[in-house]
Amino acid sequence: MTPAAHDNDPLPPKVIASLRCSVCGAPVGLVDRTLSCENRHSFDLARQGYVNLLHARIPSGTADTAAMVAARADLLGSGVYDPLADELATHAEDGLIIDAGAGTGYYLARVLDAAPGAYGLALDVSAIALRRAARAHERAGAAVWNLWEPWPVASDSAEVILNVFSPRNGPEFRRVLAPGGKLVVATPNPAHLIELADLVVSVDDRKAERVDATLGEHFTVAGRTEVTRTVELSPEQVRQVVGMGPSAHHLHRDGRQERLDAITEPVDVTTSFTVSVYRPVL
Ligand SMILES: C[S@@+](CC[C@H](N)C(=O)[O-])C[C@H]1O[C@@H](n2cnc3c(N)ncnc32)[C@H](O)[C@@H]1O
Ligand SMILES: [Zn+2]
Repeated sequence: MTPAAHDNDPLPPKVIASLRCSVCGAPVGLVDRTLSCENRHSFDLARQGYVNLLHARIPSGTADTAAMVAARADLLGSGVYDPLADELATHAEDGLIIDAGAGTGYYLARVLDAAPGAYGLALDVSAIALRRAARAHERAGAAVWNLWEPWPVASDSAEVILNVFSPRNGPEFRRVLAPGGKLVVATPNPAHLIELADLVVSVDDRKAERVDATLGEHFTVAGRTEVTRTVELSPEQVRQVVGMGPSAHHLHRDGRQERLDAITEPVDVTTSFTVSVYRPVL
């Protein structure tokens, strides 16, 4: 079971040690509830425990909305994607584990549970999601960041980078990962939620091989596992699965909302993911 919320130490010291000032790149320290560097750039912790290191505006249209985050938290909390969490947890290592595009921190917490000497950093552009991620595990901290920008994280600092259905910045993965570290990427397979194809927009329908191409210069594939299960979703869970993804923005199209409303019985659906492990090219 994931440890309960932690109010006293929202950014564990080992996480702070690997953070860098997003303005000048210097190390940062925490005094009261403010992170600051020697050049007096400072970043306040939010009441909910995450820190916003982003001085620029949050890029519009990329962050999940409150409704999407709530739907995702509810669905993940019901355990439907636990086989994926279990597979990710087999890749836990002691040291720093960064979840790039962590959302609510659900998978990061599960991976941290599997390595008592690990500590975690959830990076995401959605402050709404990070309110939950900041409390997801006592050994994790959370920072608002745009993954497409150079990360406010020390080079060679992470033993593991997790990337679960989120943007992939190959050069930053490479820089931040320790030479012996590994990048663990989860992608949905074409069969994922195939039974809901008329409700779910298939923008996530990326083949793992296409990810290899985007990471190719910096990483080689070290292993690949498929995680496929048939699960029974309640009508409520079907609505959560649709509402937590980009499909939520397209329900007005083609009678989708009406079809969703008409679901009153449980539905068997396929969940299917590939977990790929990459090692940095040295
Ligand atoms: C499909 S969700 C996956 C979240 C989480 N990994 C999970 O599976 O529960 C994608 C996440 O990527 C985040 N995201 C999208 N664009 C981003 C960016 N440019 N920088 C940081 N996070 C981003 C979203 O806010 C969202 O939390
Ligand atoms: Zn600074």
